[in-house]
Amino acid sequence: MKNSKFFLLPLLMIFLYSCSSDSDDDPGSNPGNNDVTYTQNVKPIIDSRCISCHSNPPVNNAPMPLVTYNNVRSAVTGRDLIGSVESGAMPPAGADLTNAQIQILKDWQDGGFKE
Ligand code: HEC
Repeated sequence: MKNSKFFLLPLLMIFLYSCSSDSDDDPGSNPGNNDVTYTQNVKPIIDSRCISCHSNPPVNNAPMPLVTYNNVRSAVTGRDLIGSVESGAMPPAGADLTNAQIQILKDWQDGGFKE
């Protein structure tokens, strides 16, 4: 049985490694986050949760449209769009965006707003 520690050590290292690699990202978000694009990932979220007010022209007193790539990008850079969904201020009625959806918006910003 003196060999058992040589067997357990690699297992322990694998275990520790898999824990540490999980911890920085939102659980459940896909790791390929540099591939997030407006068309594939961001627009479907905005279309389903924001467009009912942030249309063009906007309705229900929304201050700006979120219809095009440029609309959404300038709302992230100039109107704190991510902060507003993190705080739950937006959307003002109904469920907040999920953590995974918010992570997509952050990944999109971090990746340089791929179209
Ligand atoms: C029910 C209508 C409605 C929906 C749905 C809605 N908004 Fe809004 N939004 C508003 C109104 C009204 C304002 C202005 C008043 C305020 O800031 O609370 C606003 C303001 C904002 C602002 C701040 C603009 C500024 O310059 O102060 C952002 C950013 C925003 N919305 C993003 C979103 C996003 C992202 C979604 C979808 C996740 C969304 N909104 C869904 C009505 C809506």
